[in-house]
Amino acid sequence: MVKILAFAGSGRKGSVNKKVVAIAAKGAQEAGAEVTIVNLEDFDMPIFNEDLEAEQGMPVEAQAFKELLISHDGFLISSPEYNSSYSSLFKNAIDWASRKTGDEAPMAAYRGKVAAIMAASPGGLGGMRVLVVLRMLMENLGTMVLPNQKAVGGAFKLFDEQGDITDEKTEKTLKNLGKELVDTLTKLKG
Ligand SMILES: Cc1cc2nc3c(=O)[nH]c(=O)nc-3n(C[C@H](O)[C@H](O)[C@H](O)COP(=O)(O)O)c2cc1C
Repeated sequence: MVKILAFAGSGRKGSVNKKVVAIAAKGAQEAGAEVTIVNLEDFDMPIFNEDLEAEQGMPVEAQAFKELLISHDGFLISSPEYNSSYSSLFKNAIDWASRKTGDEAPMAAYRGKVAAIMAASPGGLGGMRVLVVLRMLMENLGTMVLPNQKAVGGAFKLFDEQGDITDEKTEKTLKNLGKELVDTLTKLKG
């Protein structure tokens, strides 16, 4: 069975990116994948610093996140757009997980993986600019990124008080993105 790790690049409690990635995750589950959803803020790791790494090694929580990446076939990532780019929370976790700590192959957390990316913002463009740099980052790390992606604009208006999406079209697009990731991984795994 295809295994997918889903996470948002925001640690905010009411994060729209967490809501968006959860919908794509549901689409992936309905398409038959085993999906693990995690919150990045639950992995308490310091800002990456090579001196710290040399003195103390990889923090336990960074290692845990890295192992999750390694043990899944693909990723669903929804990123907030901070000043046209991804959050420091996200990049810090990505940097820690890029470091070799054991017998694993170099960049084992990223190479040979497939990702579907999305973004959500209260603004009209929906974080379209972060998708450009997020795609570039993940591809450079060795993760294939699906051509289809989704930027969800006006995101604060798309969810009701319970946190459920009120726009059927957006819901369908996000679920389809999750399904597309499962279909692609299924084909690749043979
Ligand atoms: C430091 C900072 C920079 C931001 N820059 C942008 C931006 O470039 N484009 C944008 O659409 N929204 C920007 N925003 C607004 C975010 O889209 C908004 O806070 C959003 O809710 C973050 O995602 P979340 O709800 O998943 O936490 C910025 C917010 C912060 C805190």
